[in-house]
Amino acid sequence: MKTLIVYSTLTGNTQKVAEAIQEVFEVQADLAPVEDNPSAEGYDLILVGFWVDKGMADKKSKEYLSSLRHKKVGLFATLGAYPDSDHARQTMIQSSQLLDSSNQLTGTFICQGKVDPRLTAMYKQFPEGHPHAMTPERIARLQEAAKHPNEADFTKAKAVFAEVRRQLLAGEI
Ligand SMILES: Cc1cc2nc3c(=O)[nH]c(=O)nc-3n(C[C@H](O)[C@H](O)[C@H](O)COP(=O)(O)O)c2cc1C
Repeated sequence: MKTLIVYSTLTGNTQKVAEAIQEVFEVQADLAPVEDNPSAEGYDLILVGFWVDKGMADKKSKEYLSSLRHKKVGLFATLGAYPDSDHARQTMIQSSQLLDSSNQLTGTFICQGKVDPRLTAMYKQFPEGHPHAMTPERIARLQEAAKHPNEADFTKAKAVFAEVRRQLLAGEI
């Protein structure tokens, strides 16, 4: 069983999750940045990792996801918001809808990732009442995001894709 893990990252969070997931598949998984535009031919499973940009998969991942045909696909992502938020759920749903209907979605994982301090500094400049202004709730969320992805996230991500691997090997999917 051959697996390709393709990831998109600006500041490294999504790459860390990709590398953790690779451990599940050991030598049977190839890891490549999305910029390499790796061919999906010959792989039994394609895992695509993206960072969340304005409530969607980032631009490079969008293009890669849209290009896949007739593949078993898993998605993973990192974002600033809480992983159990509507924002995270909607992001994953909308991103998975980029997949052509000839593909099969096998599993998803999403967790927080430290937000680029340059973005946080920009938020701080917005006046009170601005939709992106700093509020105590936003500060708490960014502080929590700064601790991710962490070991617990890696463990959860691995569990999701270890189960996908099991199902694939068992011929259940
Ligand atoms: C330009 C930009 C837009 C972002 N948009 C969102 C967003 O819409 N929702 C969200 O929860 N996080 C958002 N984030 C936070 C990133 O998705 C998050 O920090 C992610 O872990 C970055 O991953 P990376 O280190 O792999 O680049 C944004 C970050 C940047 C820089």
